[in-house]
Amino acid sequence: MKKIGILNSGGDCAGLNAVIASAVKCGTPMGYSFLGFERGWEGLLDGTYIDLTLDRVRGISHLGGTILRTASKGRFAGKVGSGDANKIDPDILALAKRNADALGLDGLIVIGGDGTLSAAAQLAEHGLRLVGVPKTIDNDLAATDKTFGFSTAVQVAVDALDKIHTTAASQDRTFFVECMGRHAGWISLFAGLAGNANAILLPEFAFNLDHFVDFLQQRRQEGKMSAIIVVAEGLRLKDQLTSKAETSASEVVLGGASEKLMHLVDETMPGQFEMRNVVLGHTQRGGTPMSQDRILAKRYGIEAMLAYDRGETNVMVASRNNRMVTVPIGEATKGLKRVGRSTYEYLAAKRLDIYVNG
Ligand code: F6P
Repeated sequence: MKKIGILNSGGDCAGLNAVIASAVKCGTPMGYSFLGFERGWEGLLDGTYIDLTLDRVRGISHLGGTILRTASKGRFAGKVGSGDANKIDPDILALAKRNADALGLDGLIVIGGDGTLSAAAQLAEHGLRLVGVPKTIDNDLAATDKTFGFSTAVQVAVDALDKIHTTAASQDRTFFVECMGRHAGWISLFAGLAGNANAILLPEFAFNLDHFVDFLQQRRQEGKMSAIIVVAEGLRLKDQLTSKAETSASEVVLGGASEKLMHLVDETMPGQFEMRNVVLGHTQRGGTPMSQDRILAKRYGIEAMLAYDRGETNVMVASRNNRMVTVPIGEATKGLKRVGRSTYEYLAAKRLDIYVNG
């Protein structure tokens, strides 16, 4: 019986448990056994894991979070900051390989974003067989059309916008609603479009405060007393990211762009608008995965197992035009997928008279 290790690393994401359960449910009848490392790569380095039997994964697919828990960065950080590849200490890689061998592992299924998968690619060079599964609520991995967790994040934001609409209209207020999206504004764009925002501000494009303020004023002149502005956390105000904190342990923690913008508007037109700020933050990451994400996650789990069984290694499973394929991990981690001026939803928002920067 071949033994496979499963790990997820980086931020959690709705649908992780469905990937884990499906890989195990698909692989067990094929003659594989599984163990799951706790807290990502740290579990592989420390030798902390749980046995992933059919019993253990029963009834978890609909649950948010991950039964394996997860950790960001740590000793196995494959990328630094906004994406510069990080060469992992060869001793750490050797330790990971030794531990995998000692546990009798035939290979690994690694679920993560581009940092995790870049680390995986380095481990593969040390001779461990490995299949990757893309994970990020931001949906910004170029190699795949869609990542699980994205639809759930968008729905959380849309639900919030629906609620904010009624309170904003009742009190003639301008609301700034901050969504996650470090390098790419997909969550903001989709949520803003579905949730009837009046403006969507994206990290992909330059932001002009005067232009934006003109837009707000124009709405007022047209007698529109309330407004909802969706702001991606990665929006660059005065060409700079807004961060909550910088820690040596991880990437810059983004947050505060919408609040900063609210203050800038108030400085430009003091007292003209009654404004409030809502940061959706990690509510977009937690909770129950919606049906599309469960199905996508299950497809990823099954396809990772099948790719492994076919003998593919150092590949990532990807969804392209609704078909599951595999791509070399090196290719998968190369490019970010960002909103562009020809993105359908960007054009749709503009056609529907939503203000979009860029
Ligand atoms: O990469 C996904 C993401 O959700 C980003 O949009 C966000 O900036 C980041 O994770 C926040 O992660 P954490 O709070 O875990 O550092």
